[in-house]
Amino acid sequence: MLPTKQQAIEFCNNTAKIADEINVKRGLPDNLSLGHYKTVAFCAEKIASHCQDLDPKKAWILGLLHDYGEAIEKTIPQTFHGTAGYDEMMRLGYDEVARVCLTHSFFDNNFNPQESSYDSQSIIRAQKIISEMVMDDYDYLIQISDLMVTGSEITDIETRLKYIANKYHVAEKTMENKYKKAKQLKEYFDKKTGQNIYDLVGITHE
Ligand SMILES: [Fe+2]
Repeated sequence: MLPTKQQAIEFCNNTAKIADEINVKRGLPDNLSLGHYKTVAFCAEKIASHCQDLDPKKAWILGLLHDYGEAIEKTIPQTFHGTAGYDEMMRLGYDEVARVCLTHSFFDNNFNPQESSYDSQSIIRAQKIISEMVMDDYDYLIQISDLMVTGSEITDIETRLKYIANKYHVAEKTMENKYKKAKQLKEYFDKKTGQNIYDLVGITHE
C-alpha cells in the first residue's frame, strides 16, 4: 500500500523538520534533508515518466519518503535509517514505501557491518529482510535516483559516490564495486527510457 501524495508530503515534512533541525545544529545548511528528499522524488518521477511500465506518481512518493528513517537515525545514535524507516512504514501499513527505505541503501549488495557506523544487528536484519524479497524496478529506480543527488543537488554518480566514500570511510575495494554497480544501474535506466538519464534530470555530461 502507498500513502496519498498529501500524506506523503506530511510524512516528508515531519521527518525533514527533525532531520534539518539537527543538520543546522551540526553546522550544515538548513533544508538540506528536505531538499534531498524532494530532489530524489523529482529524479524518480522524471525517469519513471519515460518508462512505459512505471507510474511517475508512485515514483515521486517513494522518492520523497525513501529516507523516512533519517530523523530516527539522527536522534538515536548508531540507528540505521534503512531499518528505522522500514519498521515505521510497515507499522503504518505502507509496505511499498517500507521496502525502498531499506533497499535504497543496498544497490551494491554490500552488507558488511564492519564498514558502517551503524548498529551491526540492524544491518544483519536488513540483509535478512532483503534476501527474502525480490527487488523490482521501483527499488532500482530509487537507488539510481538517490545516486544522482548529493545533499540536495543533482549530481553525477561519481560525485555522489565520492561523498559516500568520505562520509562513511568506505574501503577503496568496496568503492570500486559500488562504482561498477551504480554504472550498471544507470545503464539499465538509460536503456529502459531509451535515452541518457543524465539528460532527463539535467546533468551536464560529455
Ligand atoms: Fe537518500
